[in-house]
Amino acid sequence: MTPFSSGDADLRDAKRVQQLVQEACPDWIVLAAAYTDVDGCEGNPELAFSVNRDGAVNITAAAKQTGARLLFLSSDYVFDGRKTAPYETDDTRNPQSVYGRTKAEAEIKLLALMPDCCIVRTSWLFGGGGKCFPDSILKLAATRPALDVVNDQRGSPTYTVDLARALIQLCRKNASGILHATNAGDCTWFELAQEIIRGAGLPTIVRPLSSQQMARPAPRPAYSVLSPASMHRLHIEMPAWRDALRRYLERRLRPAI
Ligand SMILES: NC(=O)c1ccc[n+]([C@@H]2O[C@H](COP(=O)([O-])OP(=O)(O)OC[C@H]3O[C@@H](n4cnc5c(N)ncnc54)[C@H](OP(=O)(O)O)[C@@H]3O)[C@@H](O)[C@H]2O)c1
Repeated sequence: MTPFSSGDADLRDAKRVQQLVQEACPDWIVLAAAYTDVDGCEGNPELAFSVNRDGAVNITAAAKQTGARLLFLSSDYVFDGRKTAPYETDDTRNPQSVYGRTKAEAEIKLLALMPDCCIVRTSWLFGGGGKCFPDSILKLAATRPALDVVNDQRGSPTYTVDLARALIQLCRKNASGILHATNAGDCTWFELAQEIIRGAGLPTIVRPLSSQQMARPAPRPAYSVLSPASMHRLHIEMPAWRDALRRYLERRLRPAI
């Protein structure tokens, strides 16, 4: 497995992307890179589309040239959040934010260019190696007696370690088409914050807030739980989000030796 970062190639640079893919000559390309700042995308739609949609097209063209398979990471934000039962892979896309539109348009373009590509929608990622919700909550809880957290958006928190394991299985199974890969179960951000505080053994009080009370530039879906049926059809079961969070906190809070 060879990891590449933005230092190796900018997704928007088709020539450099092609050169890198030709040199690496992989069996599979897992495209996780994206402009992921959802509120940033809302204010910079040109940048968002050029990285998330056109950059993904550049990778796909390079994959086609070398005969590599492609796994593209997409998002629960391709849906509008009006459903009250888990989204299936063939539910209609109706993104409400620029970020969601960039991912939805990328999906459509990639499937047209490479019909056997693998599109994996995931949601609410947390894990080591970057900013994530549990880290933000722990940081805030260290200095504040109470935290206000949105309680009217429901989704499935997903540990990057569990997602990475699932992606490896998908490649080994030669998967194609659209799949939904998240940790099992769902919650609101408020419920997730409560579980983080409880798991870390902190006295901080968590109070529920509405999205309206915490207006942000990009709208978020009220409900974006993704059905595990597509993974179950491939006999892949992902752990429950509470178990995933417990493992993450154990690792994160373990005293340094
Ligand atoms: N986070 C979530 O909750 C979530 C939910 C659903 C789906 N996803 C999808 O899952 C994937 C991973 O998300 P994440 O939150 O882990 O991402 P992340 O931490 O924001 O990392 C994104 C990576 O993309 C790189 N990147 C950005 N613009 C680039 C460009 N023009 N060329 C090359 N590389 C570029 C960044 O490099 P630099 O750091 O050097 O800029 C960074 O390493 C993304 O495709 C995202 O859309 C995420």
